[in-house]
Amino acid sequence: MSSLLDAVPVMPVVVIDDVDHAVPVARALVTGGLPAIELTLRTPVALEAIRAISAEVPEILVGAGTIVAPGQAKLAADAGAQFLVSPGTTVQLLHAMQETGLPFLPGTATVSEVLAALEAGCTELKFFPAEASGGTAYLKSLASPVPTARFCPTGGITPASAPSYLALPNVGCVGGSWLTPADALAAGDWGRVTALAAEAAALR
Ligand code: 3PG
Repeated sequence: MSSLLDAVPVMPVVVIDDVDHAVPVARALVTGGLPAIELTLRTPVALEAIRAISAEVPEILVGAGTIVAPGQAKLAADAGAQFLVSPGTTVQLLHAMQETGLPFLPGTATVSEVLAALEAGCTELKFFPAEASGGTAYLKSLASPVPTARFCPTGGITPASAPSYLALPNVGCVGGSWLTPADALAAGDWGRVTALAAEAAALR
């Protein structure tokens, strides 16, 4: 993989409530053509879900999202995460993610945050919350003054709005939770996840 942002056009941002859903969700995404998953650390079973996916679905790139405290970076790496994503960035959070040696996307929402991340050596960034922070117009405005930054915007992006983000020169991929709706997971409707993944995979 040349870059995290080039792995898939849409990074599935996934909340797992039941650890038994982790492996079938990962398999459904791979079947649909999206071999990557950002497992958010928002539920008590998230690390266990990362462990299960990395053990049982080696064909998927599994990462940990919603890294909001420095200590979570090592926990995620130890669980088998292959990349890390944070919604925002503090100096300590950035150092903790750097220390794991894993690729990671530090969260940014302002020009100053983007510049701070670039100073720390990061050129691949999450832009969050994308829609609420100005969406495609904001990212377009950044391209000329800050050309070295590339983004994975997430937050409020839909299948309808994703193509306009992906068309921007400073966007590598977008992230979204729409691929794994809570009701589909609760119902064990893995076919729906695969269908949503296939639609998203076709966006690039
Ligand atoms: C994230 O952490 O990237 C977001 O929760 C994803 O945003 P969405 O749910 O609006 O897709």
